[in-house]
Amino acid sequence: MDIFIIIVQVSCLLLLALIFVYWLIAPIISAPFHPSSTKDVLEMFDLARLSRKDRFIDLGSGDGRAALAASRVCEYAEGIEHNPFLTIFARFMALISANGKLKFRNTSFWRVNVAKFDVVFVYLLPGQMKQLAGKLEEEAAPGTRVVTNSFSIPGWKAVEARNSGGKRYFLYELGKHK
Ligand SMILES: C[S@@+](CC[C@H](N)C(=O)[O-])C[C@H]1O[C@@H](n2cnc3c(N)ncnc32)[C@H](O)[C@@H]1O
Repeated sequence: MDIFIIIVQVSCLLLLALIFVYWLIAPIISAPFHPSSTKDVLEMFDLARLSRKDRFIDLGSGDGRAALAASRVCEYAEGIEHNPFLTIFARFMALISANGKLKFRNTSFWRVNVAKFDVVFVYLLPGQMKQLAGKLEEEAAPGTRVVTNSFSIPGWKAVEARNSGGKRYFLYELGKHK
């Protein structure tokens, strides 16, 4: 019995250490988790004119708040997040909101084809935007709306840009983006 308790304690400590190390290195290897505020999400949905017939994807979905909110508005929403702890949290929130129109995938968005989505939601670092532009041009259908928080996509022409409360948001439409 004592051995069992020691094993459980050591496992918990190892798990905590793993979470701590991941939390330390995650911002170094990619965009850190810095969630969009409720205001950001609402501004971006409004800018993208998110509607009931849209299929929505958040590339780097963090704790899942934007995809969860989108699932209440549109036909289907998906969040892609490579941090397993954030994905577990987002899946838990999806479970308690009992929303079948929502899915979270624990993987890198570089591995996910965005062809079937109408609205792509992006809040990433400027350094990732150039590579993302190439991916979107390769995969996204003409007419796909791409809405970004804070950072623009280099070399692309926004169909609309909005300044609100000291924040900037950009809307692009594939086919009209150059
Ligand atoms: C600035 S946060 C934005 C979170 C969410 N989109 C929002 O607006 O609230 C960026 C998120 O992207 C995730 N991320 C960065 N690179 C990624 C990648 N290649 N694949 C999946 N997720 C990634 C980070 O872990 C982080 O949670």
